[in-house]
Amino acid sequence: MKYNMILSDFSDGVTTITINRPTKLNALNSATIFELHTALKAAESDLDTKVIIITGSGEKAFVAGADISEFAHFDQTEGRSLSKEGQDLLFDFIENLSTPVIAAVNGFALGGGLELAMAAHFRLASTNARMGLPEVSLGLIPGYGGTQRLAQLIGKGRAMEMIMTATMIDGEKALAYGLVNHVVPQEELLPKCFALADKIKSNSSLAISAAIKAVNANFADGVNGYDVEISEFGKCFDTEDFEEGTTAFLEKRKAKFSGK
Ligand code: COA
Repeated sequence: MKYNMILSDFSDGVTTITINRPTKLNALNSATIFELHTALKAAESDLDTKVIIITGSGEKAFVAGADISEFAHFDQTEGRSLSKEGQDLLFDFIENLSTPVIAAVNGFALGGGLELAMAAHFRLASTNARMGLPEVSLGLIPGYGGTQRLAQLIGKGRAMEMIMTATMIDGEKALAYGLVNHVVPQEELLPKCFALADKIKSNSSLAISAAIKAVNANFADGVNGYDVEISEFGKCFDTEDFEEGTTAFLEKRKAKFSGK
């Protein structure tokens, strides 16, 4: 498919999706959300894609938020559906994707931009990154899962402070908060993501998908995460990857997983 708002490149088991509206600091309009959904779905069903990296084009922004010009005139009903459709199409969709998603936060990640990064399975930031949920400065609250995921990732008190003050934090603070896993100079950001992707790729993609499900179960209402873990653990025993992984260990060789 031809995209207008994003770029999608495949190389060596990794699909890199780049939000490509640099003149608007990669703000998320509805067309971009739809294209991201389409590209992520395609990458998930591509068996050669073992890891997905999401980043922003240019050196200034990952994503500077939802596109304010698109919703400035909305009423309550439109606001609700903006939030619901966005969560369904992109934010919940990413969190529950069976392929691992890494966010490479290469600059401003504000509002919907930080919410996008938080929906990914984990995040890396460049030293110039600035992260925040400034919605209350617009008379809004985060609507793409930010009130939930920020509190899950950094704790309620810190999330409350960040949301109420609408201030941005830098990479070092984000690292100290546990919001990002690594902070590196901008030119090292994608190489570092690729190095982590290499490690992920050497493991069983089926087991990784099962692990995503089990970890996410801890954050789903009315679901017992331990039960999901028991079920996913059990399912692994019926896979070729399990047979290969254990056999390779016993034969003292490196496993070659088929993802079956
Ligand atoms: N929605 C729509 N357009 C946006 C945008 C957003 N969230 N963020 C930036 N842009 C646009 C600007 O309107 C500007 O467009 P223009 O050149 O056509 O006027 C362009 O991107 C560059 O932004 P600008 O504000 O000139 O850059 P800056 O370096 O002075 O400031 C920011 C950078 C990130 C601090 C500032 O753009 C900003 O505060 N953006 C909004 C952040 C926000 O509130 N996000 C949450 C939305 S819910």
